[in-house]
Amino acid sequence: MTRFWKPGTENPRLLDDEEGGVIFYNTSSSSSSGYGHMSMDKQRQRLPVSKYRTAILYLVEKHATTIIVGETGSGKTTQIPQYLKEAGWAEGGRVIACTQPRRLAVQTVASRVAEEMSVKLGEEVGYTIRFEDITNNDLTRIKFLTDGVLLREMMDDPLLSKYSVIMVDEAHERSLSTDILLGLLKKIQRRRPELRLIIASATIEAKSMASFFNARKRQGLDDEQIEPNKEPAIISVEGRGFNVQIYYVEEPVPDYLRAVVSTVLSIDDLEPMGDILVFLTGQDDIDAAIQMLTEDSQSNRKKGLIVLPLYSGLPRADQDLVFSPTPRGKRKVVISTNIAETSLTLEGVVYVVDCGFTKQRIYNPMTDIENLVVTSISKASARQRAGRAGRTRPGKCYRLYTEEYFINEMSAYGIPEIQRSNLVPCVIQLKALGVDNILGFDWPSSPSPEALIRALEVLYSLGVLDDDAKLTSPAGFQVAEIPLDPMISKMILASNDFGCSEEAITIAAVLSIQSIWFSSKGVQKEMDEARLRFAVSEGDHVTFLNVYKGFIESGKSSNWCHKNFLNYQAMRKVHEIRLQLRRIVQRLGITLKSCEGDMKVVRKAVTAGFFANACQLEAFSHNGLYKTIRSSQEVYIHPSSVLFRVNPKWIVFHSIVSTDRKYMRNVISIDPSWLTEAAPHFYQHKQLNPIPH
Ligand code: CDP
Ligand code: MG
Repeated sequence: MTRFWKPGTENPRLLDDEEGGVIFYNTSSSSSSGYGHMSMDKQRQRLPVSKYRTAILYLVEKHATTIIVGETGSGKTTQIPQYLKEAGWAEGGRVIACTQPRRLAVQTVASRVAEEMSVKLGEEVGYTIRFEDITNNDLTRIKFLTDGVLLREMMDDPLLSKYSVIMVDEAHERSLSTDILLGLLKKIQRRRPELRLIIASATIEAKSMASFFNARKRQGLDDEQIEPNKEPAIISVEGRGFNVQIYYVEEPVPDYLRAVVSTVLSIDDLEPMGDILVFLTGQDDIDAAIQMLTEDSQSNRKKGLIVLPLYSGLPRADQDLVFSPTPRGKRKVVISTNIAETSLTLEGVVYVVDCGFTKQRIYNPMTDIENLVVTSISKASARQRAGRAGRTRPGKCYRLYTEEYFINEMSAYGIPEIQRSNLVPCVIQLKALGVDNILGFDWPSSPSPEALIRALEVLYSLGVLDDDAKLTSPAGFQVAEIPLDPMISKMILASNDFGCSEEAITIAAVLSIQSIWFSSKGVQKEMDEARLRFAVSEGDHVTFLNVYKGFIESGKSSNWCHKNFLNYQAMRKVHEIRLQLRRIVQRLGITLKSCEGDMKVVRKAVTAGFFANACQLEAFSHNGLYKTIRSSQEVYIHPSSVLFRVNPKWIVFHSIVSTDRKYMRNVISIDPSWLTEAAPHFYQHKQLNPIPH
């Protein structure tokens, strides 16, 4: 039964009597004013940030660092780079950079700005994300890129000398790369006084950011004449969000997917026109909800609903659909990850449905396991999500959690990624950039010493760091140079010795993609059968090789992918990444060679990279219980693996996801002697116990 209840009223207002629905009540909310649909030029001028154009340009001129806080949708990302260019910051071949934590945000924002400036994307306005560079060295003046890519650029150009202004956007997200970048930019500033930094953020953390970048304090400079001023400027852009009415469920919902579906259907039944934005945790959730919404017999009669997914890795055409205006008489339902929370703004959203969760990386240095966990969002996130409903007119936000939960259980802010991540990639990157004292690095928030020590240990055993914790040559530098997780990079390096680099590169490309399988509920049996066509007893990595071989032999046919329940877009991406990786490793002096079907050497190469993820099947286990060799963690093979229920005695895995249990994704069977071969210092010879440090 779906009921909406206004607090202060006696009886919940009955809106629907459908079985299995959700009961909501609402609370008070804030309000301000706004505007509706209009032409692109008009829209630009009416964006809140445009009133601050002169002020922003003045501050950037005068201050080394400017911190801009402004509500999502106020125009920070799309407008400020254009203002800077108009003010001459891109003259003389200089480039304005704007970083984003998310790849999808980079792509869509860049194409929006190119459109606003009436230029071709990739010329004056371009973007770079990992494995995709849409820029032109001679022409590009405004460049959008992920914070991770900018970090990589420092390996070739440590002072980032071609950039006049670097805008670190979405700083409130505190992504791992953003934090590393902030620490390094602070160093660069000392060497390049002419460089300007803009830190843009949706929520107010401005004061701590300002004190982080305050170079005046530290150097004891008090000469006001020195230009630029070393004291950061802070400017706050007033938002224009409309009033958003918040509704909470009366009772916790047992199944948030069902609750999402029933809430969307009720809104469609009972509320005036306006698009719906749903926040879920990840692609699997989103696909399942879409399936339920489109298959639901009830919703079948709702011809007016256009249900669309939004997550990173979505094909271009699907992205465009999300951003295109809703046809008259229709209602768009966009089901998104938290990418729509602050990175992207969808016009026309009037209703938000917030499941209250997000998928986060959580790393535990004690067990050395990093996994993707569905966790509760913070209050700050919940407010951001609700705010998305008030873009064009007053809106409503339906929270699928109780008000009590919001008040008592949700933390005020999220934990910065650096404090909940495996630091192996971060440490190698800093080492490659010449930062030797990692514990003493100037972090916006310090990582835990345990996590740093674990990372140093792993890198040492991978042969990437030497006894003095310096990058080894050439292995360490090569691993740092390949834009992949160091374990994958190490696998590629090792494959050179085993004569199977072509195979290792294919595996690396597949592991960089979320999934190559087409996911769809209801056809599980057919999918499993399709998978069996490629499955081999060695494990998932070898299975990937079969899939890729089949794809190439089919002439990269979409039809073939369709028949085999493979995601055609993902397979094309694998092919593209593979070509780029080939170029990169050739530059590093690795010989491209195929082992022509000798899968033992492929498995050895995988082991050389992933030995730290080795597990043994418990001796008397009837349910497939494994324990990690390093920390005796209980883990299981994920049902999507070809080794699910096969349960070989010894395996290594690529990653862990956890729900009720910890599941290993992408596993391969190994011989335990390969572990000592690959990392003698990591595993004791006979018992294969980790060496106590
Ligand atoms: O960065 P911030 O959240 O402050 O705003 P923005 O991303 O610059 O967005 C400013 C305006 O441009 C919003 O009204 C967006 O809806 C619009 N926009 C759009 O229509 N399409 C895009 N791909 C990106 C932005
Ligand atoms: Mg933005």
